[in-house]
Amino acid sequence: MKNFVSMKSFKDFELLALIKEVDQFFNGQSVNLSKDRKRFVANLFYEPSTRTKMSFEVAEKKMGLEVLDFHVDQSSVQKGETVSDTAKTLAAIGAEALVIRHPEQNIVQSLATQLDVPVINAGDGKGEHPTQSLLDLYTIYREFGRLTGLNILIVGDIIHSRVARSNAYALKTLGANVMFSAKAQWQDSSLPFPYVDLDQAIEQCDVVMLLRIQLERHQEKDSFAVESYLDQYGLTEAREQRMKQDAIIMHPAPVNRDVEIADSLVECPRSRIFKQMEYGVYARMAVLNNLLAEETDYSDTITEKLY
Ligand code: CP
Repeated sequence: MKNFVSMKSFKDFELLALIKEVDQFFNGQSVNLSKDRKRFVANLFYEPSTRTKMSFEVAEKKMGLEVLDFHVDQSSVQKGETVSDTAKTLAAIGAEALVIRHPEQNIVQSLATQLDVPVINAGDGKGEHPTQSLLDLYTIYREFGRLTGLNILIVGDIIHSRVARSNAYALKTLGANVMFSAKAQWQDSSLPFPYVDLDQAIEQCDVVMLLRIQLERHQEKDSFAVESYLDQYGLTEAREQRMKQDAIIMHPAPVNRDVEIADSLVECPRSRIFKQMEYGVYARMAVLNNLLAEETDYSDTITEKLY
């Protein structure tokens, strides 16, 4: 693996091997990627982030990497430097991998073709969010021990959601039955998945994955009545009570409580929302390991792969 930019590029056995590797890190496997020399990485976040940025930083530090202290608002980006020149500069200075979040769709994929160091997509506009997808796959795998054949309902602002896109690609590759539920103007017909009525589908699902309403990506014409959204399109307590006994609730967060999900359900027994955040550290360790470990002798660490 040279870069980690899209879930579209993986085959089923590659995704399963990554999930297995996340599990090894979760179970205490450790890797020091800076055994012989100091190694640096940089996290370039052109959009706000709490979970992704902080969990990458924890993952990097757990693996012995030095994290360059880069902040867009205190950098030469403010003098007009392009994202491409900024990324090339950090690579020239010594960053051996770049984690990039940017509002422009496909920009991370484009940067990956321009740089000699590995690039990780931490969210490109409404394009993809592949490390979120990996932690989501792991969350589901931990729960059910498989992904094939599960009914997974992704609900909400599909058209603006990079999480929906990455998960739909990956879950399809792994043989899950993916369904979407969204109000008409938030449906994305470019994705080959059926749209279903939430009230009709809720009893069949193993996973109900809510999405944050991405207000920052909405045009004015998308304006919606926040007061009635939960009852019409969100996960209410009444809908949760109709879910299968073992079904789980997921959400990539941050959560708009009482908008896409009832406040009382965010930490209910079925919710895995904070577990997803916990697993995010190990998912990011697996990605970093795949991109950076080949130059390091780690024969005493991860040896077992699924395939
Ligand atoms: N889920 C997610 O990407 O959260 P952040 O925007 O806080 O990183």
